[in-house]
Amino acid sequence: MGHILVSGREGQLGSELKDLPAKQKFQFVFTGRNDLDITDEAVLQAAFEKYKPVFFINCAAYTAVDKAETDQENAYKINAEAVGNIAKQCRQHNTKLIHISTDYVFDGKGVQPYKTDDKTDPVNYYGYTKLTGEQLALNNNPQTIVIRTSWVYSAYGANFVKTMIRLMKERREINVVGDQFGSPTYAKDLAEAILQIVNSEWAAVNKEDTHSSQLTDNSFPGIYHFSNEGNISWYDFAMAIRDIQQLDCTVNPIPTSAYPTPAKRPAYSVFDKSKIVNTFNIQLKDWKGSLQACLNKL
Ligand SMILES: NC(=O)c1ccc[n+]([C@@H]2O[C@H](COP(=O)([O-])OP(=O)(O)OC[C@H]3O[C@@H](n4cnc5c(N)ncnc54)[C@H](OP(=O)(O)O)[C@@H]3O)[C@@H](O)[C@H]2O)c1
Repeated sequence: MGHILVSGREGQLGSELKDLPAKQKFQFVFTGRNDLDITDEAVLQAAFEKYKPVFFINCAAYTAVDKAETDQENAYKINAEAVGNIAKQCRQHNTKLIHISTDYVFDGKGVQPYKTDDKTDPVNYYGYTKLTGEQLALNNNPQTIVIRTSWVYSAYGANFVKTMIRLMKERREINVVGDQFGSPTYAKDLAEAILQIVNSEWAAVNKEDTHSSQLTDNSFPGIYHFSNEGNISWYDFAMAIRDIQQLDCTVNPIPTSAYPTPAKRPAYSVFDKSKIVNTFNIQLKDWKGSLQACLNKL
């Protein structure tokens, strides 16, 4: 049975991936910062030699967007340098890399859903490190799939949904940015899509029995976009959370200019997701249904 090595076990996506049933075709090895620090080249190499993974799913990342503006060295090490090293190990061991990136690679000046080959131009340092990570992942390993995603939330970790619920319970009135538009992504839906891609890539090479040396045949490396369906503002998102949870709090839409943050945010980051849908036959879920599902789990 082929191994699948997963990094970032304790993060939102890593946790949701771990929760998924029906992974019987492969032996998943979930690792966290303690046992697989992706910035440690020796530890990485040892893990690749031990497991000789068929896939490496990189759920580890430096995701503190505002902190990255000043903690640049760490952000770059984790989101760029380490990803490049993972990809090098993948090439050496004929491992397919599934790496996760972000809508923050775009400048947000677009007016229609971003396609995977649209021009990138990050507006903050986090976005720059993630874009560099994408490039290293693709350049260092021909078998890399990069999945860009946006506005990730889940029952695990810290995220917008949990912050809103806490604030709405504590306060009578809150202000939420109403002029940044995007699509939320329930990490469980992304985890399911990743599993579907793994199965599809594995079936494509039609080598169910061994760790094939021809994993590239009929597989589909490159960049993909994934999120839930919808084009909403953070204010819309907050209102839906309030209404589903039946919380008694007034929510006011405010402009970005009234909520300054250390890192700039793109104003528009809706994805065109047709490539992932058509290539891997992925069924996208509507953002509100997925929000409801997450709130039920919470
Ligand atoms: N969250 C979003 O809104 C969002 C939006 C777009 C794209 N993405 C991308 O989606 C992916 C998954 O995000 P997420 O929300 O699941 O992130 P997350 O919850 O912040 O999880 C990231 C995990 O990576 C771990 N990690 C950090 N540095 C590491 C290292 N050197 N070695 C091993 N593990 C390390 C973190 O551990 P510690 O807690 O110990 O640091 C954390 O458990 C990331 O690539 C992210 O850039 C996220």
